[in-house]
Amino acid sequence: MEVRVLSGAPLKESGVWVPVIIKVDPLKPEQSLIRKACQVLLDGFVVAFPTETVYGLGAVATCEEGVKEIFQLKGRPADNPLIVHICDLKQLEDLVTEVPEKARKVMEVFWPGPLSVILQAKDNVPLITRGGLESVAIRMPAHPVALSLIECAGPIAAPSANKSGRPSPTTAEHVYQDFGEQVLILDAGPTLVGLESTVVDVRKEPWKIYRPGAVTREMLEAHGHVAVEFVGKIEEGDSVPSPGMKYRHYAPNVPVVLFREISELPVNQDITVIALDHLGPSLQQRNNITFISLGPDQRSAAARIYMALHEAERYGRSTYVQLMDEEGIGIAYNERVRKAAGASRKLAR
Ligand code: TXA
Ligand code: MG
Repeated sequence: MEVRVLSGAPLKESGVWVPVIIKVDPLKPEQSLIRKACQVLLDGFVVAFPTETVYGLGAVATCEEGVKEIFQLKGRPADNPLIVHICDLKQLEDLVTEVPEKARKVMEVFWPGPLSVILQAKDNVPLITRGGLESVAIRMPAHPVALSLIECAGPIAAPSANKSGRPSPTTAEHVYQDFGEQVLILDAGPTLVGLESTVVDVRKEPWKIYRPGAVTREMLEAHGHVAVEFVGKIEEGDSVPSPGMKYRHYAPNVPVVLFREISELPVNQDITVIALDHLGPSLQQRNNITFISLGPDQRSAAARIYMALHEAERYGRSTYVQLMDEEGIGIAYNERVRKAAGASRKLAR
């Protein structure tokens, strides 16, 4: 096994990073630290880094060796493509064959930000990075650490930095829980948006959303002047437009049940309840309930849900998660918690 040395930093034997977590300023990342992490990427290794949505597990997008390590570390099926992260529009030209005018418009409006756009890939993007597809998903993240790292290393391919099937990481600790010393982590504190980017295919109209996120269908329609459809569930036997849709997602290792009203909660069972603040006072009166707050509104709920699911795992009890209204970022939130509940049911069987 190789030993990984970080510019003369101390090291342990056999392929673990010391230090494994490097704290970096979220707003003004120290360039000396960014350069160290960048060198690790250029050497063909993987680095976990913060974006505004969730932490990513990154490798240089054109480095097959590094990208291969991402798939191995995550236990990710080879046909599930990665998102390529860029820091300016010039980088786009090397990655995709053409950008429709309306797509360019929404990139101008929402980038940097939580929007991944699927376009026709150029041969420069290795097949392993795009899961063997003709297309590639591109996104410009709105996080100074991510942008600095990309500026130094070039376009970075990165899925969420969790083991396949687990809840996504919104803190460096979550990444560490899944990967331990195997991955160098840039720690810039908790992420702001908390749910992964909207994934939209803009190659032909109507555009198709494969994964809802903070950039909603209405926002895309308004700024792109284009019709947008949400492709939700896939039926058995259907072809799968986005490979991620067919895999298990976001499953914590406790059973997850969804609810809207307090009256739906069991009365005589010790449970964890994840809900908005306004339900707190009535829930905390019951001594069989451990309450985890999602804050005051949908936006805070989105930002905190993965943190809450990680916390619920520590209590090890059935976990009741409040559904949000089906609007705005509530749509993306509900999609994630529905998948978490579905996946936990399958695990229990
Ligand atoms: O916010 C995010 O998007 C985070 C941060 C790190 O940027 N990344 C992320 O990546 O969530 P990942 O790999 O966990 O999810 C990417 C999703 C997968 O469901 C994948 O199948 C889909 O996007 N996807 C990627 N490229 C695609 C393509 N060319 N065609 C269809 N779906 C694609
Ligand atoms: Mg993911």
